[in-house]
Amino acid sequence: MSEKYVQRVLLSEKEIQAKIAQLGAQISQDYADKELLLICVLKGAVVFLADLMRQLTVPLEIDFMAVSSYGASTKSSGVVRILKDLDCSIENKHCLIVEDIIDSGLTLKYLEENLHSRHPASIRIVTLLDKPERRGVDITPNYCGFQIPDEFVVGYGLDFDEHYRSLPEICVLADK
Ligand code: IMP
Ligand code: MG
Repeated sequence: MSEKYVQRVLLSEKEIQAKIAQLGAQISQDYADKELLLICVLKGAVVFLADLMRQLTVPLEIDFMAVSSYGASTKSSGVVRILKDLDCSIENKHCLIVEDIIDSGLTLKYLEENLHSRHPASIRIVTLLDKPERRGVDITPNYCGFQIPDEFVVGYGLDFDEHYRSLPEICVLADK
């Protein structure tokens, strides 16, 4: 694998926080009379979850899932393995899947179908980032922070080979 470097900041800390405040207000309004279960997809979405949940004014619980695609690492096959399942039942609960980024959409498509089979009251998706150009399956987030071009990004929870997750902003990673 070729060497990479952080080429530029795509989204600053300030831009990200302003957007999360907007998303938080919208989601709080939409779920005003309900209780919410936030389902965080590990590991990339943890930073987003931590900031988003503090912008929500509705009563909520959190739970975590870890998934990984089968097969070659560069190409998602659409067959997803659950590495860590939810701790609790989601039956009759209003679920909001919290994702860091939607790329091909295969991971989320699988996850949504899997969770549907557990009879929740509702399921929606919030993603901080979306690369619509890359979409291979029909999936649209209910809430989206930013649509970004087809570039590999890191920071704010997102990694390249487990690195860069702790950067406070979202940066473009490029080949050296
Ligand atoms: P999908 O199944 O192709 O939509 O893959 C989504 C997952 O791939 C995300 O949850 C991320 O973990 C990872 N991913 C996709 N694009 C990027 C990127 O630009 N930077 C870091 N991780 C990414
Ligand atoms: Mg990842």
